[in-house]
Amino acid sequence: MSAPALTWLRTDLKDDGRPRPLPEDRSSLLRLDRLEPAATLSPRLLRKMGSTFSSLALSRYPDTGSTDLKKSIGRYFHVDPDHILLGKGSDELLEVLFLAISGPLLLVEPSFPMYQNLARLTGRPVHTVSLEDDLSLDTGKLLDAIRQHAPALVVLSHPNNPTGEGLRPEEIERIATASPGGLLIDEAYAPYARRTYLDLLGKFPNLMVLRSLSKLGLAAIRLGWLAASKEILVRLDKARLPYNVDGLLQAAGGLLCREALPTLEARARQTAARREHLFAALSGIPGIHPFPSQANFILFRPLSMPASRVDAGLRSRGIAVRDISPDHPLLRDCLRVTVGERHELRRFLEALSSIMKGPV
Ligand SMILES: Cc1ncc(COP(=O)(O)O)c(C=O)c1O
Repeated sequence: MSAPALTWLRTDLKDDGRPRPLPEDRSSLLRLDRLEPAATLSPRLLRKMGSTFSSLALSRYPDTGSTDLKKSIGRYFHVDPDHILLGKGSDELLEVLFLAISGPLLLVEPSFPMYQNLARLTGRPVHTVSLEDDLSLDTGKLLDAIRQHAPALVVLSHPNNPTGEGLRPEEIERIATASPGGLLIDEAYAPYARRTYLDLLGKFPNLMVLRSLSKLGLAAIRLGWLAASKEILVRLDKARLPYNVDGLLQAAGGLLCREALPTLEARARQTAARREHLFAALSGIPGIHPFPSQANFILFRPLSMPASRVDAGLRSRGIAVRDISPDHPLLRDCLRVTVGERHELRRFLEALSSIMKGPV
């Protein structure tokens, strides 16, 4: 029997035949290709989480406003709880926002692919501004595009995934001032950056900042939060499903904010310090061009041999990085390495130096 045509489903949801293979999970492999560090929570905190879960009234709908969790997040990050909207991961909040806007989006390319996916799913038209050859953002070009397209929403990732570049305060100020619609700063990697833009929220009424627990080592706890003005959030709240943040997530999130975030953020700062050493070491390897990063990864381009050769060489030495070349033409011959532990980076750098000394 031939497969049914399924014409009742949207044609853009058809399998494009190119599912991305999941990287093999060989336990002996040094995984410097994943962006989520592993958080180690104390046995005491895990026990506390267990007892919090066991006292939940599972037969009742949870608090649709997640009042206590918003208070915990607000207290930790010094944001008024009324200026917070919660989602099951920050990607759900992107979806809510894209559903809520009344016109086109302006995106930078390359950036987090989920922006394009969600724009397609929510039927939002997209305009794009390409990064430069050196993967930097030309703010002048972005401002021109804002004037030309008058987007309902500009989305920028700070630091940008996959390039690692951070935005400067004066860039944000110019973009927020020039934008007739909203400006979203996606700060999924902010714990590793030199600064966050939460402090600019009061200054620009169209500014929104999106945060996540995922890149702190808690990707399985699907918790994201959006900080913005009350006026914006009251409207966005109407595009959110009422119980998107379930009772378990509310309980776990509150506990983690109070008891785990300080340690996880301190660890992120140590990772950021190791990133600077890694950048200097990569710059010192002949034939390697690293791109400046404010995230927990560094993008680098081997100049004297194809990235695929370097990738294979590292794999044969038991080290996985991510060959990111297929993702976008500007990322040709680019590899991405996650800022691991000191001993892991030593092993990676030794392997890379030896590969780069080999025959071209
Ligand atoms: C820039 C950026 N924003 C958002 C996300 C999604 O985060 P979450 O796990 O909170 O949905 C990611 C995940 O890779 C990301 O890179």
